Amino acid sequence: MSKVDAGPTGELRIAPSILSADFGSLSKAIKLVDEETDWLHVDVMDGHFVPNITIGPPVVKSLRPYSNKFFDCHLMITEPEKYLEPFAKAGADGCTVHVEIGHTAELLEQCRELGLRVGLAANPDTPFDKVAPFLDQIDLLLLMTVFPGFGGQSFIADVMPKVELARREINAAGLSVDIEVDGGIDTTTAPIAVGAGANVLVAGNAIFAQSEPLAAAARLRDAARTK
Ligand code: DX5
Ligand code: ZN
Repeated sequence: MSKVDAGPTGELRIAPSILSADFGSLSKAIKLVDEETDWLHVDVMDGHFVPNITIGPPVVKSLRPYSNKFFDCHLMITEPEKYLEPFAKAGADGCTVHVEIGHTAELLEQCRELGLRVGLAANPDTPFDKVAPFLDQIDLLLLMTVFPGFGGQSFIADVMPKVELARREINAAGLSVDIEVDGGIDTTTAPIAVGAGANVLVAGNAIFAQSEPLAAAARLRDAARTK
């Protein structure tokens, strides 16, 4: 199964989150922002790990023909081991699992074996120590800047020291790992997150809730570059 390349690690990436798009017209929404974005962020919620339910592999499969972007699937689910393979088969390119779930080494290994780009996520109150042991096993570290579950929440700036620490440790170890931030990213917070060391910016509200999503994505990229 051929996967879309994520591009060079460490480069600025804008990843619109379809969570804030109109679920009745997802294919239109993703085409609309295609020109000014890099990845597509797919928020998967199961009503257990987070208090909300969104979408699963059938939606990924249905969207796949409409986009040749890297599908960055953020799994906010308690049993990712059951769904990694269905997501890989449906057309996910990368899957990110939460460290809070446990059995992290096995989950990362399963992702790798399925040919997925491997991501590990941490909630705002999860310390860096919890993800540090896995840095050499991942391609992407997702440091949540809101508590997961819903779009449109406010950026938690207290996470920035963790982003700085992660970037220092990754660089010092000579590792090639993207740092993604997710939650409350807009033209004000994007440069703050990039300044702290993040390079993948997820944005839902700041893109899809705007009257002109394509222009909003371009503004976000410009803002991120002015850090
Ligand atoms: C939150 C999700 C985010 C969310 C971000 O649980 O993981 O990806 O869509 O939305 P905004 O950018 O609106 O905060
Ligand atoms: Zn997300």
